[in-house]
Amino acid sequence: MASRFVKAALPRVVRPYSSATSHTYEHLKVSTPKPGVALITLHRPRALNALFTPLLVELNSALHKLNTDASIGAIVLTGSEKAFAAGADIKEMKDKSFSDAYGTDFIEMWSDMTTAVKKPVISAVNGYALGGGCELAMMADIMYVSAGATLGQPEIKLGTIPGAGGSQRLTRAVGKAKAMELILTGDSFSGKEAADWGLAAKVFDTPEQCVEGALSTAEKIASMSQIAVKAAKEVVNKSQDLGIREGVDFERRVFHSLFGSKDQKIEESRYEEVQRIQVKLLTVSKDAAELVKNLETSLNKNQTSSFTSANMTAPNAGRQSPEPEEQSDKQQGAPQASPNDQGAAPSKDHAKDASKETLQSLPSNPTGPMDKAAEEKTSKTMN
Ligand code: CAA
Repeated sequence: MASRFVKAALPRVVRPYSSATSHTYEHLKVSTPKPGVALITLHRPRALNALFTPLLVELNSALHKLNTDASIGAIVLTGSEKAFAAGADIKEMKDKSFSDAYGTDFIEMWSDMTTAVKKPVISAVNGYALGGGCELAMMADIMYVSAGATLGQPEIKLGTIPGAGGSQRLTRAVGKAKAMELILTGDSFSGKEAADWGLAAKVFDTPEQCVEGALSTAEKIASMSQIAVKAAKEVVNKSQDLGIREGVDFERRVFHSLFGSKDQKIEESRYEEVQRIQVKLLTVSKDAAELVKNLETSLNKNQTSSFTSANMTAPNAGRQSPEPEEQSDKQQGAPQASPNDQGAAPSKDHAKDASKETLQSLPSNPTGPMDKAAEEKTSKTMN
């Protein structure tokens, strides 16, 4: 039953390039480097991509557009080689009062990536990902890192605490003891450590490889059924909120609902079609193997009989009993065997001649009566 859902070797759906990414932004670059994949690059180089409100407004705007763009199946979020993002903008925060922050729900809009965006987001983290930068990277569904990246929640050093989910997401990812240590000390950690601890799904040697790896994974995801991807993201995310029993119940309900999805039916019938083709190919190759075997057997038989006749009756050594015309041909032109050949083992040349002639004597489609039956079977199977 489970195998009905195996997708390997199924034809992939290739979506057209997006036109929704033509919009220009001041602090972002948005492109579609692969079919079905959008790449958002944070671009505030002079402040190491510090996350101030104008940048976040643009990020949300781009995410919302991509979320509703049917040609996009997955999104990659990255920064520069030097910094994914060096945190919330300290300059923007320093003069805020409690009523400013509380009254404007400061930082709440950062959560759009986790609440409003239903398509998978992969963060490709290079350079610094500190404070809000680390939190933004953790909001993605999958995090990829380069080994030399520097991550951390240094807010404690500024007399504050993580404010965009760091204490919750880091703790779920690396466990309470490690998260507590990192948040209480503000110590940073490397990309390699992030991968070792399970915070990042993959680690790469270089920043380019990291972005390329994220794009490849995004392309793979984008080629799957969008309905199934959306449902998969939803159920995995629910595991973070629900207990195991409720979570499994929730998953089963969503699973049941996918029986109503056209994509599932299409993929299942494609899978069955692939299976049918595989069975046909197996039968054909078995029949082909039989044909080769028959051919070999008939070659060997002919060789053996000609070797035998060679032993007995030179000069026609290594040949089947010739046709009458052939006999007269040979009498005219064929070199005569020396008396010494009589009773001798057939020479290599004789054996070669025998094989050649056997092949020539076979019809162009080398099937004997038995082989014909196999051929009919093969052509029936192929039809
Ligand atoms: N906010 C605003 N500007 C920042 C910034 C930030 N978080 N991080 C870096 N910048 C700016 C610097 O002010 C500097 O700008 P100027 O040239 O105009 O002065 C520019 O980026 C380059 O920075 P540095 O010269 O400091 O670069 P560096 O290579 O020497 O150091 C660094 C890099 C270690 C990342 C250092 O910039 C740094 O420590 N940044 C602050 C990191 C931090 O504490 N982040 C947490 C912020 S609080 C937060 O994020 C709260 C939350 O949870 C939501």
